[in-house]
Amino acid sequence: MTASTPLQTLPSNTVFGDGDTLVLFGELFGRGYATGLIEAARAAGMTLIGITVGRRDDDGALRPLTAEELAEAEANLGGRIINIPLMAGFDMDAPEGEKTPTDLVAEMSIDSWQDHALDWDLINRCRAIGTARFTTALQQVMAEMDAMIPAGANVIFAHTMAGGIPRAKVFLAIANRIYKGLGARYQPSQSLVDSDLGKFILQNFDEVTANTFGHLIEASAALRARIEGEGGQVRYTAYGYHGTRILIGDDYRWQTYTNYTQGYAKIRLESIARDAWDNGIKATVYNCPEIRTNSSDVFAGIELSLVPLLSALRKEGGGAWVDTLWQDCQALLADGVTLEQILDMVDAYQTDPVMLKFGDFAAWPMANSAEQVTRTVGTSQEIVKLHASRKALVSDVLSEHVVSATGQLIFGESSAPAGPVLWLDHDLVAQELIARQG
Ligand SMILES: NC(=O)c1ccc[n+]([C@@H]2O[C@H](COP(=O)([O-])OP(=O)(O)OC[C@H]3O[C@@H](n4cnc5c(N)ncnc54)[C@H](O)[C@@H]3O)[C@@H](O)[C@H]2O)c1
Repeated sequence: MTASTPLQTLPSNTVFGDGDTLVLFGELFGRGYATGLIEAARAAGMTLIGITVGRRDDDGALRPLTAEELAEAEANLGGRIINIPLMAGFDMDAPEGEKTPTDLVAEMSIDSWQDHALDWDLINRCRAIGTARFTTALQQVMAEMDAMIPAGANVIFAHTMAGGIPRAKVFLAIANRIYKGLGARYQPSQSLVDSDLGKFILQNFDEVTANTFGHLIEASAALRARIEGEGGQVRYTAYGYHGTRILIGDDYRWQTYTNYTQGYAKIRLESIARDAWDNGIKATVYNCPEIRTNSSDVFAGIELSLVPLLSALRKEGGGAWVDTLWQDCQALLADGVTLEQILDMVDAYQTDPVMLKFGDFAAWPMANSAEQVTRTVGTSQEIVKLHASRKALVSDVLSEHVVSATGQLIFGESSAPAGPVLWLDHDLVAQELIARQG
């Protein structure tokens, strides 16, 4: 692929409404992307069904939600949750009496990890166990779901799973260096990819972020045939990330966060959607803009690409709502600081020759460089300091709007999706936010 395939026009829903079902394949967190799609589906009158990844006991055993946790999760979703743990990945799986991959990672140290060899025979067996655990649980989930979806209903399966970072203290320290390390603390992201630790983590990302989408499509084949046989339509959506076109100067240009180690798994996710599409299944990966969520907070500086949405909103027509948003964002800045100043800083960052080298779409996801991390993390820290409080950032306000707009765009496009991989860029996000005011 040499260029992105952006969504071109505002879509509208012609298929989904009362009596139809949206299945959320992942858990719902307060500020995560899925909240926008849930909001759109609920507004259209759809019934919601959720799943859970389960919870881990202190000894690491995976269990369903307790009655109390289930009630809370169902209230949060506004729908029923099938209480069978669907935790993906194999970081905590092992043959009886043997070590899990997380145990193996915990044996590494911050000084030794780059040369620390992993037992690949054991890792491969753990992976097979984790995959079997997930697919077996998924079959049970599908059996329950079948009973919950009425004849004649149209269904959207919305995949939101992404993750796979092992919970070992040493990895958190390494991740901090790779995503935040400046100067002497800089750690090349390529050194992770080249290490055994990195190779294992990339496999785990594949399992959680990509392969779960394939398992979902496969495990729902019988249900899909039943729904379609009864006259209903079925769609699969997934959240991707593969950079975003944002306003840089006067033009929308593709840029990306670096280093996005999960990018290999996101490319795999796209290929799963393409394969399904080639088999006549309407599965679409929606590549979404950079925002701040529980999952993206690890990526220092990811929010830098979000700020120019303010300029895109003016370019796409502006209006009273946009003026108020600008004023609300301006009010979050320290005395004497203007939004224009922040936007100039982001524009200078995006057009810095060091950053322009990372604008190579075909080479994505590129490894980081020391100068690039200095700019990404440094500019992010400088901009945070220009706020009145580091707890209320312009990027938080904009993240909420992006979540809501992308939810509506994905929901609208699901009636007649244009293809298996679509980018939701700042132009369409801005148009959607403006259109809904009218
Ligand atoms: N935040 C961003 O900037 C951004 C940008 C583009 C795409 N996305 C994508 O949007 C989707 C939602 O992410 P988000 O940023 O809203 O954060 P989030 O934390 O709200 O969502 C992460 C999801 O992954 C699931 N998950 C995590 N680990 C899992 C595991 N081991 N097994 C099964 N499920 C697991 C969680 O249940 C949750 O549904 C992800 O696919 C993410 O990659 C995020």
